[in-house]
Parts: sequence; C-alpha cells; structure tokens
Amino acid sequence: MTKINNGRCGNGFFISFEGVESSGKTTQVHLLTRWLKDSGYPVVQTREPGGCGLGEKIRTLLLNPDEGISAEAEMLLFAASRAQLVREVIRPALAEGNIVVCDRFVDSSLAYQGYGLGIDLDVVWQVNRPAVGETVPDLTLVVGAGPQLKGVQARDSSDRIEARHDRFHERVRCGYLRLAKDFSHRMEMVDSSVGAEAAAERVRQLVAQRIEPMRGDLKDA
Ligand code: TMP
Repeated sequence: MTKINNGRCGNGFFISFEGVESSGKTTQVHLLTRWLKDSGYPVVQTREPGGCGLGEKIRTLLLNPDEGISAEAEMLLFAASRAQLVREVIRPALAEGNIVVCDRFVDSSLAYQGYGLGIDLDVVWQVNRPAVGETVPDLTLVVGAGPQLKGVQARDSSDRIEARHDRFHERVRCGYLRLAKDFSHRMEMVDSSVGAEAAAERVRQLVAQRIEPMRGDLKDA
C-alpha cells in the first residue's frame, strides 16, 4: 500500500475542527471520533486550549471572565498551551500512527487573535511557529451554518471570549471565510444547518476519502 507521508512524524493523520461559537463544531468532533473508533481506526481526540495538564490550566485562565488579559498575553497563552499539547499529545500520537482529532488548533488563533482582536496575522504566525513547528493539520474542517459559517445556536456568554461583543465574533466569522479561501488545500467547510447527523455524514465523506488509502499504515488499523 502507498505510504502517505504527512511530512512530520510517523504515519498518523491530523484533523482539526474550527468554527465560530455555537457552530456545532464540538458535536462533530465527538461524532467523527466515535465513527472512526467504530470503523476500527486508532484515534486520539483532544482539544485546544487544553488537552493536557498544563493546557487545561491555561484554558481555565483564558476563559475566566474575571481575568483581565491583554490581547498579546492572550495570543501568547494560546500559543503556550498549543506548544505543550503538540509535544505531549499530538506528535506522540501521530508518531504511533494514530488519527488525531483536535477541537480547534492554530487557525483559531489566526481567526480570534488575528482577525478578531486585530493583531497582525504575521505576528500571530511568528508566535505560533515555535509552538507548532511542522505539525500542521492534514485536514481542517470549518463547521458553521451555511456558506457564511454562522453559529447555529445563540451563544452562551459565560466565558471571557464568548462574552465579547457581536462585532468581534463577526470579524472572527469573516476571518474563517478568508482562511478557508487562503488554505483551501487543507480546509473544507461543513454546513451544520442541515442537522448534526447530515453534517456528520459530510464530515465522514471528507475524512474517508483521505484516510482510506492509508488505512494499512495506521496503527492496528
Ligand atoms: P471552545 O469554546 O471551542 O472550547 O474554545 C474556547 C474559546 O477559546 C473559544 O472562544 C475560542 C477561543 N480560542 C481563541 O481565541 N484562540 C485560540 O487559539 C483557541 C484555540 C481558542
């Protein structure tokens, strides 16, 4: 079988999910992980910020509405959480030949801290370069309602970032549309307005066409 080399470590496959608040993204993360497991694929599910001890502590800080955090400190904290998750979870899992399914990754920093907060995108990239190195997703699924990638439900404003003004979230949404164009080689948009199960079917199609050719190379698959 042809070996698909993702250019980083091992024979794993790296999938990230992205989207605005309440887009239905996390539901799709869970549905895909369950389907992959049921289909016999080795899978590691994780999330950002978080996914490891340090990352979860940083997540608590970042989302605490009582914490005053500058835009630059926020960008660096997300990158710090990412640097740890990449080394502690993602790279080892890929090296062992797993499929990694990550709820958000570096595109969230481009969308939220770059487009949303207005930090220069090159700066966001430079800060994240040492965090991710060559570990970038093979496939990124941007989930949202319709071609405009809107949220499917009202936002719950209990966390510090979700509680931001509508204008911020609108910039994030437009940022994702831009990113989906700029990175069309690895990004696909998934319409969640059709319902969770129909969206999950689309996700499965997009994933299956990429991973089936490498099935023999994945751990225990
Ligand atoms: P979640 O609600 O999808 O778990 O994500 C947590 C929040 O963190 C969400 O409001 C998006 C935000 N976020 C960023 O602003 N930048 C990032 O790099 C990441 C990973 C998340």
